[in-house]
Amino acid sequence: MNLKFFIPAVMVFSAVTLFGQTPVYLDNSADIEDRIDDVMKRLTTEEKVAMLHAQSKFSSPGVKRLGIPDIWMTDGPHGIRPEVLWDEWDQAGWTNDSCVAFPALSCLAATWNEEMSYLYGVSIGEEARYRNKTVLLGPGVNIYRTPLNGRNFEYMGEDPYLASKMVVPYVKGVQSNGVAACVKHFALNNNEINRHTSNVIVDDRTLYEIYLPAFKAAVEDGGTWTIMGAYNLYKNQHACHNEYLLNDILKGEWEFDGVVVSDWGGTHNTDQAIKNGLDMEFGSWTDGLSANVKNVYDSYYLANPYLERIRSGEVGTEELDDKVRRILRLAFRTVMRQDRPFGNMLSEAHYQAAREIGNEGIVLLKNENNILPIVPGENCSILVVGENAIKMMTVGGGSSSLKVQREISPLEGLENAFGGKAEIIYSRGYVGDVSGEYNGVRTGQNLKENRSPEELLAEAVENAQKADYVIFIGGLNKSYHQDCENSDRAGLGLPYGQDQVISALAEANENLIVVNISGNAVAMPWIDKVPAVVQAWYLGSEAGNSIADVLSGVANPSGKLPFTFPVALEDCPAHSAGEYPGTKRNDGIWDIEYKEGIFVGYRWYEKENIKPLFAFGHGLSYTEFSYGKASADSKSMTGDGSITVSLDITNTGKTTGKEVVQLYISDMKFSLPRPEKELKDFRKIELEPGETSTVTFTIEKEDLSYFDPEKHDWVAEPGKFKALIGSASDDIRAEISFALE
Ligand code: BGC
Repeated sequence: MNLKFFIPAVMVFSAVTLFGQTPVYLDNSADIEDRIDDVMKRLTTEEKVAMLHAQSKFSSPGVKRLGIPDIWMTDGPHGIRPEVLWDEWDQAGWTNDSCVAFPALSCLAATWNEEMSYLYGVSIGEEARYRNKTVLLGPGVNIYRTPLNGRNFEYMGEDPYLASKMVVPYVKGVQSNGVAACVKHFALNNNEINRHTSNVIVDDRTLYEIYLPAFKAAVEDGGTWTIMGAYNLYKNQHACHNEYLLNDILKGEWEFDGVVVSDWGGTHNTDQAIKNGLDMEFGSWTDGLSANVKNVYDSYYLANPYLERIRSGEVGTEELDDKVRRILRLAFRTVMRQDRPFGNMLSEAHYQAAREIGNEGIVLLKNENNILPIVPGENCSILVVGENAIKMMTVGGGSSSLKVQREISPLEGLENAFGGKAEIIYSRGYVGDVSGEYNGVRTGQNLKENRSPEELLAEAVENAQKADYVIFIGGLNKSYHQDCENSDRAGLGLPYGQDQVISALAEANENLIVVNISGNAVAMPWIDKVPAVVQAWYLGSEAGNSIADVLSGVANPSGKLPFTFPVALEDCPAHSAGEYPGTKRNDGIWDIEYKEGIFVGYRWYEKENIKPLFAFGHGLSYTEFSYGKASADSKSMTGDGSITVSLDITNTGKTTGKEVVQLYISDMKFSLPRPEKELKDFRKIELEPGETSTVTFTIEKEDLSYFDPEKHDWVAEPGKFKALIGSASDDIRAEISFALE
């Protein structure tokens, strides 16, 4: 028996008994493509078709006869989902499937730190590997088009460059564990309302400049092994079997060699699924709402209906072989990889990673008179108000809901941080949603409250009058119509009368700090009355510790907004120029035209001269940074050349801190409309008080280009450009002009 290769005994056995020697596909030193060729020769058509679709809620079959393991999927993207029953959404009731919840991806994007993204990917990948998963259903990179989208918290913001940079290390980190990332939802899934019936109408330029780059980066730079199709339609074809998105762009232009997985219940048509690039079908007809029929998996679009078409000669096997090859490639990259690490779960390192990412992602939006960090004086009392100070946020929100080993609430975190130094008092202030259950996982919290809103408010105000500081912790939650899958928000405003509570607290105490927990922008009509505002996202297991680290100054905030906070919903491009949620047709489909085009997020506010509440890239620190004059190594560049722009950044304050230095490019003369400026690079640097560092950016032709729909290619027009360098999109501190010859 050849033990040179670490092969499970059963495989070696079948190999030796069947063939007398190790077959190529079990030879770990052989090239993956040769191994695939070898398996292909051994498979029957029935075995091939079986591999294309689910056999349970989250698994698809391998080939037992040949020792090719099943593929196991798991959500994603913030932690490893608890196990459900084989063919139902109900909990399997395991006692060993609690996980560490990492901060939501909106927080990860707010770190603007690629190292944090890699740390995130490695850590969550280790948990997935330990739970024996083949594919992690994440990360999500759908662009933030409207603040109403219930799933923005699972995505990486409004800017294609930022999302592209942040997705790559996550994918690499996950896959370093021999677990595939599954980048989702490809593509144009930018709202949850009517998600199965929205037909997106968008021009090519906008598609290529705004909605595709993060997916492209995940494929070409991250090397993702799988991609999940989206629920919506594009050009009247469902994205899960969409000729343009999957065949032409993903597998054609980008040469993606991995597996396209359907979203759960996202497949609708056998012929399109065969021809238009779908490789694996999950979740069809078994949504847990309708009664299952026996052998439902055999009735999947890519099961018996496919087999029948092959048997009758209606379709050939060319597409089938391509799909199976991709699935085998996935298996050889993951479950059949000899040196696959073992992973680990619930390690202190993972909690530390979650805390570190949270600390770097929290954004200090406003800090008048340096009221933060809180340095408690003698006999200091701190009043904490708000439901989100005590509500567990890891349960809820849809498929990203988790069962955690532990979750530190903001109130607990603050008690840990200030215990002994200040008296912490808690008042509820308002009641939001007291339920705490998703998919059978219960928080076990009893948040019932019998007092009236008036009584709750009166108590909070009375306590606020006596306290030295008031910390209001509210925002959204993961309930339906908040930040939650399969529903969008009803408006930009805070729910449950929180605006009234905040305004009353501001009257009662001038040292009011508002901590907003959400994955979306919210309206802040009270902003002028509140000295400090912190954007704290959904931070996972270590939520309370991260919030306390920032409020107490243990961590100096360095997060920057990955999307704009508008003043009002009417200011948003999707709600003024664009369509949302579109127009319902006679066939029940909603046409939703992205009429705002490329002017998404800050590109829109700048073009229209609309002052946002907080701009893209904004985020304060407890220290200050000064920006020196920018210099360039040349005043002009040629088509295939580059220029280098440098400047000095100095920490002029008294605390060590991190700054995100942002490079935007502005085209001064153009034949097609262009945004005022676009993010093209950034660096996150740490500086001690008094320390100076030189930041250098290299600008290349692709940074100056736009997508020309006529040529179907990227074009950089010769002429004048400006490099704008700053601390936020609305805080440019240095600029330099140059020309493209
Ligand atoms: C979601 C996906 C998720 C899948 C499996 C779908 O409803 O859109 O993001 O991965 O369910 O739970």
